[in-house]
Amino acid sequence: MPYLRRINSTSTKMYATRTLLFLQNDGTLKPLAIELSLPHPKEINLVPLAKYTHQLSMVLKVPFGSWPKLMPQFHAAIEPFVIATNRQLCVLHPIYKLLRPHFRDSMNINAFARQILINGGGLLEETVFPGRYAMEMSSLVYKNWVFPEQALPADLIKRGMAVKDTSAPHGLRLLIKDYPYAVDGLKIWSAIETWVKDYSNFYYKSDGMVQEDTDLQSWWKELRDGHGDKKNEPWWPRVQSRRELIESCTIIVWIASALHAAVNFGQYPYAGYLPNRPTLSRRLMPEPGSRKYEELESNPEKAFLRTTLLGISLIEILSRHSSDEFYLGQRDTPEWTNDMEPLKAFGRFGKRLGEIEHEIVKMNSDEKWKNRVGPVKMPYTLLYPTSEGGLTGKGIPNSVSI
Ligand SMILES: [Fe+2]
Repeated sequence: MPYLRRINSTSTKMYATRTLLFLQNDGTLKPLAIELSLPHPKEINLVPLAKYTHQLSMVLKVPFGSWPKLMPQFHAAIEPFVIATNRQLCVLHPIYKLLRPHFRDSMNINAFARQILINGGGLLEETVFPGRYAMEMSSLVYKNWVFPEQALPADLIKRGMAVKDTSAPHGLRLLIKDYPYAVDGLKIWSAIETWVKDYSNFYYKSDGMVQEDTDLQSWWKELRDGHGDKKNEPWWPRVQSRRELIESCTIIVWIASALHAAVNFGQYPYAGYLPNRPTLSRRLMPEPGSRKYEELESNPEKAFLRTTLLGISLIEILSRHSSDEFYLGQRDTPEWTNDMEPLKAFGRFGKRLGEIEHEIVKMNSDEKWKNRVGPVKMPYTLLYPTSEGGLTGKGIPNSVSI
């Protein structure tokens, strides 16, 4: 029986929210309550959620997803990679060739975003909940950005979603076995890692070759320096061995492709239906007994939809693939190299991604995996590697281009 405990509130305040989820024996999460708190510590609303379970079943599928978090994690983080690679590596350098597809159009989309999206008074401030503090929040999020933690295994461990286990596939045991983002993500992560390893080991036969490649060393230095106030962080890995080179390149490819895709292309499919994830809710909980309170009780969806339509239009545009998109495992120029070993390794990478597609389809149709489809019957496809153009809720483009 949902109840709403009214709090002292005015229309100028904004809630901070926290959701409490219970992990059940069948592997699904049951939302118990959303805590709505205002700056004063006594002002806390607790909204039990029996009624909204189907909407919250989506929580598990989207790793995180608000623009203030998106910006620094992919769009901003990728820029110093693009600049350092273009400035320090010759177009024939093997690492330039490896990374080039993953930087396509990233500078363009960021320049565009600075003009209309993230600028003062721009679309973002209009539509997401922090309003004019959106960019300030992004900067705060960026303060916590740690390059090696962008690796999926490290991220899952840090979030308490997995523990190290050498006997498990990928060396990780998931604490929620049916966690679609992690299950599909780890397969994609290790496919990228194998590809980067096979490719790099062809050009670098020893750790010495990595150390003696002065262009490579200058590249890595500029890449770190390009992160401004983060350049002296102790967590920056070195690139002195083949293992270190492979690890860092795998992280760069992962950020540009799958990590961005998992968040970006689900924005409209999941949040286009506003009750799933309201952006800027312009209303506080109404007074009991008022007409608005009655509407919330009798027709909660209508009450939610009275927020913003501009936000929906924006995420619809951002969730679209362009018609000339290149997906993970594809390249725009077949003649990018004549070296047979790397070409063969790239072929194996594409083949593995094709297998992952089949595995995703198979798991989505197996009722055993309850979190992959959920009560709303919407299968998890955000890490399905390819897609047709348009609004499909699937496909991993090579680069951050939207
Ligand atoms: Fe994006």
